[in-house]
Amino acid sequence: MKVAVIQGPNLNMLGVREQNIYGHMTLDQIHEQLKGQAEQNGLELEFFQSNLEGELVDKIQECLGTVDAILINPAAYTHTSIAIRDALSAVAIPTVEVHISNIYKREEFRQNSITAAASTGVIAGFGPFGYHLGLISLTQILNEIQAMQQAQAEAPQTAPASEPAPAV
Ligand code: DQA
Repeated sequence: MKVAVIQGPNLNMLGVREQNIYGHMTLDQIHEQLKGQAEQNGLELEFFQSNLEGELVDKIQECLGTVDAILINPAAYTHTSIAIRDALSAVAIPTVEVHISNIYKREEFRQNSITAAASTGVIAGFGPFGYHLGLISLTQILNEIQAMQQAQAEAPQTAPASEPAPAV
């Protein structure tokens, strides 16, 4: 199972930007820790960061048929991007949206997530640990999907319903 970790604008500045809000860890350090967690759960991770909305949309579109789940922090685009929300809805892959800070107790303009409605769930306010929580959630969702598919494959075949008589 493969998960795309997609990071929006300014997250490449983690460790430098507003440490009182986002903490001291760099994006590379967060990704290294996630890799360890993924290995333990038999998951493969693919990382992508961009400061450009269109590149994020392209990346989400590329996820269709190539990954099983998406872990995304759309960063500032969370609050503005209908394009990213539409891309997530279009690919319809299990997705968890992560925010390092608790966007609901920050400035009013951060308290609405346009993208969240296209995600399975949202995690906010747990610092970089939120990415781990997001990956735990996706692991659980993927396991449930797998179990459901297996149960369907093993279910006894039911006789096909008889065709209704054609209306004359
Ligand atoms: C953020 C919250 C956003 O409001 C902000 O623009 C970010 C990071 C977070 O992870 O807390 O860049 O998504």
